[in-house]
Amino acid sequence: MKKISIISILLIALLSFSSCGKSFRDGAKEKGFNAGIALGAGTFLDPNVAKIIKENSYIVVSENCMKWANLRPNKTFWNWNDVDQLIKFADENGMQVKWHTLFWHRQNSNFISSNWTREEALAAMDEHITTIMTRYKGKIKEYDVVNEMFEEDGTMRKNVWYNTIGPDYIEHALIKAHETDPDAKLYLNEYNNEDKGNRKADAMFNFVKDLKERGIPVDGVGMQLHLDTSYSYVEEKIRRNIKRYAEIGIDISFSEVDIRMPTDNPAAYEEMQKERYLSLYKLAAENPNVKSVITWGWTDKGSWIPGEFPGKGNALMYDADGKEKPVYKAVKKFLCK
Ligand code: XIL
Repeated sequence: MKKISIISILLIALLSFSSCGKSFRDGAKEKGFNAGIALGAGTFLDPNVAKIIKENSYIVVSENCMKWANLRPNKTFWNWNDVDQLIKFADENGMQVKWHTLFWHRQNSNFISSNWTREEALAAMDEHITTIMTRYKGKIKEYDVVNEMFEEDGTMRKNVWYNTIGPDYIEHALIKAHETDPDAKLYLNEYNNEDKGNRKADAMFNFVKDLKERGIPVDGVGMQLHLDTSYSYVEEKIRRNIKRYAEIGIDISFSEVDIRMPTDNPAAYEEMQKERYLSLYKLAAENPNVKSVITWGWTDKGSWIPGEFPGKGNALMYDADGKEKPVYKAVKKFLCK
């Protein structure tokens, strides 16, 4: 009897030393936000991957399969299969699904035309919104309605929707989306928009504030946060930005987080990467209007970074073999507290 209780005390001590007994996603939930991961089509069908996703996510997003080029390679063919499978997986595992993205300047279908008249473009926009949001009403509760709508200097990006419809294309999309599914949370998603004082970030804040003042339905702003250890990071600038959004009733998603570094000497950057990851999760815990922290993938093997930024990588919290890195353990320890 005595022996058994000593063994159990030792076991409990060992367990609490090595882990807090909470999953990463439950730790985040207790701190007031959803942890999440962007997934490649069908990746979750591998049981080893599914285990990692279940440990880490209450919200999932598709890396590509909801974009026009993948979802709708031509006007009448809709490739719903990948999205439906993701929703099924999420439903079975208590996760939300976020739509990324209804409108963007990249990964579009060939039939989208810059020769469309305003009326033709508006009709195409409406058809896209109503087809998707009617099909997934009640199943998808959060949408990136427009992605990357600003240039670095704070002017609006002249994408095909801007060029055919005009600057009011964003409010048109938001109104139509809200009309189609009034319960869905509508986000505008952007990169380099996290620092208060940055031209693009300030332009986006003023734009969203104006939408709110005019009663246009908008619920949140996504900060992609594809960070790079070679650039500066000032936590206070992000904090101030989050807080000014809170003041106007706007939620924030850290929507595509990864922190890349030069791959020739990763050891030199790992500590800095760890501090920045920790800082982001701390900001999310500290600010009630930050609703989610989503990483863009989970292992360095599947990450989009090396393909898009040659010489850069090691951006995620699992290594190329799918093992937790020290940075993951540090964030988990914080979430466990
Ligand atoms: C990326 C995907 O990860 C890649 O697989 C694809 O080749 C290009 O797009 N910002 C976004 C995401 O909003 O949609 C992008 O995803 C990464 C940058």
